[in-house]
Amino acid sequence: MRFSIGCAAALALCATFSGWAGIARADNDKGPEQVVIQAALDAEKVAKPAYLPHQAHQWLECDGCHHGKGPGGKMADYVPGQKIEKCETCHNSKAGMPQMIATLKRASHLLCMECHLKQDKELARCGVCHTKK
Ligand code: HEC
Ligand code: HEC
Ligand code: HEC
Ligand code: HEC
Repeated sequence: MRFSIGCAAALALCATFSGWAGIARADNDKGPEQVVIQAALDAEKVAKPAYLPHQAHQWLECDGCHHGKGPGGKMADYVPGQKIEKCETCHNSKAGMPQMIATLKRASHLLCMECHLKQDKELARCGVCHTKK
């Protein structure tokens, strides 16, 4: 919704965006089967890559995790086929995000951990995501 408002305000940009996204990815591209998430900009001394079985999470809609940045730095809803950037592109300490999502670690813990905790406490153990797979 918020994204469409942005489009109306910037039609030219929007047309460019859609055309380019259509070339970049087919709508049925579900992304990689597995993903390793690793901070590059705000990495802590002891790196802790996190493992995400990506396709096994797709009972959740893409927009359950993916989104963009709209006018005024607000969250823009996911649009099928959009270019998917690394979370850290926006969630890094230089990007001026609210504290609780100002780094990759914080944004990830908020998204991943909240849901895992709700499902089953066992799923929130550090080793569930921070494992070498
Ligand atoms: C549900 C998944 C999940 C769980 C459970 C989880 N994390 Fe994470 N964590 C992540 C993700 C995703 C990142 C982002 C990857 C990164 O920052 O490199 C991250 C990042 C981190 C980082 C920064 C790593 C770096 O390289 O800069 C630390 C430190 C960390 N987590 C510690 C913990 C600890 C301690 C626990 C247990 C209390 C825990 N995490 C549980 C998903 C999880
Ligand atoms: C549980 C959350 C979650 C869901 C649901 C999800 N993704 Fe992802 N996806 C991620 C994360 C996290 C990454 C890795 C981002 C990073 O490295 O910063 C990723 C990466 C990707 C990438 C790779 C981007 C690259 O750098 O190459 C694509 C493409 C992608 N997802 C598409 C999708 C599509 C399409 C859907 C819906 C069918 C979807 N994802 C559903 C969390 C999710
Ligand atoms: C193109 C930029 C961009 C990318 C890429 C991005 N985000 Fe965000 N994200 C935002 C913006 C903008 C907000 C809203 C910030 C605000 O409310 O001030 C946000 C908000 C969030 C929130 C808070 C949600 C809420 O309901 O308050 C979480 C959690 C989050 N992002 C996690 C992620 C994760 C995980 C990824 C990678 C899968 C990701 N983001 C990729 C820009 C981005
Ligand atoms: C909306 C809920 C939700 C979100 C968001 C979510 N998960 Fe999960 N995740 C689950 C559920 C439920 C399971 C257990 C069922 C399954 O294995 O599919 C799971 C399983 C996993 C597993 C496998 C555990 C095992 O022992 O096989 C890993 C690893 C994982 N998630 C990492 C992540 C990471 C990293 C993120 C954030 C990028 C994330 N999850 C976001 C709900 C979620």
